[in-house]
Amino acid sequence: MSAMVPMDPARAVTTTALRVMKSAQRPIVMITAYDTPSARLVEEAGVDVILVGDSLGMTVLGFGSTLPVTLGDMVRHTAAVTRGAKRALVVADMPFMSFQVSEEEALRAAGRLVAESGAAAVKLEGGAHTAPTVRRLVQAGIPVMGHVGLTPQSVHQLGGYKVQAKEADAAATLIDDCLALEEAGAFAVVLECIPAELAALATAQLTVPTIGIGAGEGCDGQVQVFHDLLGLGGEFLPRHAKRYADVGALVREAVTAYADDVRGHAFPGEEQSTHMDAATLENVRSTRGRRLRRVGGSGTEA
Ligand code: KIV
Repeated sequence: MSAMVPMDPARAVTTTALRVMKSAQRPIVMITAYDTPSARLVEEAGVDVILVGDSLGMTVLGFGSTLPVTLGDMVRHTAAVTRGAKRALVVADMPFMSFQVSEEEALRAAGRLVAESGAAAVKLEGGAHTAPTVRRLVQAGIPVMGHVGLTPQSVHQLGGYKVQAKEADAAATLIDDCLALEEAGAFAVVLECIPAELAALATAQLTVPTIGIGAGEGCDGQVQVFHDLLGLGGEFLPRHAKRYADVGALVREAVTAYADDVRGHAFPGEEQSTHMDAATLENVRSTRGRRLRRVGGSGTEA
């Protein structure tokens, strides 16, 4: 089978399947989606994992960061995604403050994402300090994906969206973080915006897959944000992203054509219209006619 073809197009992707892909060196394809139509489309394209990222705060809800995203937002959007995706593994992000306060709160929040929204797994940001929470969720039967490197929920502490772990100490800590997450039972770890060499080293140390974003090609898989890939995020494109289509331009063109048609009386046409027979129309006119505008070409009846 070609490396371009997904694992088994008929079978639901599981966390075990991702580990098999790592050992078989088959790159794991992950992308974000936030609603039913986008989930359907990315699944039809054969992705392995759909992440309902808290990036939805920026891509869909118009905030400047992921911090205002609530658990309610995540529950609603994850449920929309699972209605559109039957095969890909759906992972829901745990939003800011849904898992940091206590393990109990984290368990309740993750439980809602799985039970109410149908997510197969959750993702949470942070290194070794989150390991006890990861372990608790895994013990409760909830698969957890870790996320280290640039962790956007800590943007204020990190001083911006910058490449992380460039120095030796921070790089060594990142490897320790990955190992702690794996030891706690995480089934995969996202590596965001770290040097490619470090990502490759972490990938080689772990038995669970790594999924990179801005972490070079030495990871077991890659994740990208739907809106970046498709040109739906405005002019700005992060350095780690690649635009594969300009869907934004297509949308603008189509909506401009629609507006022109409406203003030029070219839409709706006969194909989009239905009619009633003349006798019925006359009946309506005779009972309500004085209050109705005359239709069909003879102007307005007062
Ligand atoms: O929220 C998100 O989209 C993410 C990815 C960038 C990994 O966490």
